[in-house]
Amino acid sequence: MEHIAPALLQWFGQNRRTLPFREDPTPYHVWVSEIMLQQTRVAAALPYYERFIRELPDIPALAACPPDRLDKLWEGLGYYRRVHSMQQAAQVVCREYGGQLPADYDKLLALPGVGPYTAGAIASIGFGLAVPAVDGNVLRVFARLYNDPSPITDPAVKKTFTRRVMDHQPPDAPGDYNQALMELGALVCLPGGAPLCGSCPLAGLCQGRRAGTARSLPCKPQPKPRRVVPVTVALVRRQDTGEWLLQKRPAGGLLAGLWQPPAFEGERLDAPGAAAALAAMGVQTDPDSAQPLPASRHIFSHVEWQMTGWQLSAPPQQPPEGCVWAGPEQLQTGYALPGAFKAYRKFLLG
Ligand code: ADE
Repeated sequence: MEHIAPALLQWFGQNRRTLPFREDPTPYHVWVSEIMLQQTRVAAALPYYERFIRELPDIPALAACPPDRLDKLWEGLGYYRRVHSMQQAAQVVCREYGGQLPADYDKLLALPGVGPYTAGAIASIGFGLAVPAVDGNVLRVFARLYNDPSPITDPAVKKTFTRRVMDHQPPDAPGDYNQALMELGALVCLPGGAPLCGSCPLAGLCQGRRAGTARSLPCKPQPKPRRVVPVTVALVRRQDTGEWLLQKRPAGGLLAGLWQPPAFEGERLDAPGAAAALAAMGVQTDPDSAQPLPASRHIFSHVEWQMTGWQLSAPPQQPPEGCVWAGPEQLQTGYALPGAFKAYRKFLLG
């Protein structure tokens, strides 16, 4: 196929969005932005990005940030593991590389939470190295460009697509080229069967468009169905102070280390059951106080929580190990409540 770079880069020069991480694309800025953008749309991520960089302007600051504060900066973005890994990686970078990301694809790839896409984005956009950065946008563009119905979730297919991406990469502008492909996928070669071929700089070269198949590509096999987990949430309010009981989640696994109201995963408990489960944790509640809470669902990538819950009142008492009493003010500023509990937030802040 004819080289796509000239038309693509010309289009990018005229249509690129002005984004803060593009104005000053240091390797650290590229890293933070790419991690945020992995599961979050550009418009939604921007205010988070600005605040994050203001508060943690460099890698040593990220490495030293207290974990609860870091979670608070991420509150609302979800997939907290991303920011936990980023902090671990920042600590490695401080220990091994003097606080600056290494200008080396393999060394970047070896950092916690940095996969081939993120390593490629940092290396090409932040350091100008000639490596690929292939995300879902780029796979979609190339599936259509080559009219290739191979399943893009297959690692061998991804490898073939990546080779094609590199066949077109100009050695003097790898960062712009990689970003132009992402930008084309985000603005023109849209997913969901809705490509804007009329505005595409590559329309004349696009084999999918010529064959009339562009809107049905890429081929993505159905993901496995999610596991459904019942969860019973307990909002426990201290009678004397009106504070709520929060519990710190275990250091590993889903929502690692985050604070939440006690929640019994895998269990659909009635009111006496919830009170008994709390008692087993060492929390005494008033058995007649239980009020039902609305049901809610939350979808994680592989699991769906189906939540029901109870509000209970409790006599004054010390919180058990790993728990605190928190008032609305502390909930607002000190603790990041995971998005999964959004339906219960208004009760806690009420
Ligand atoms: N999506 C993820 N990273 C991006 C970038 N650098 N430019 C445009 N869209 C993106």
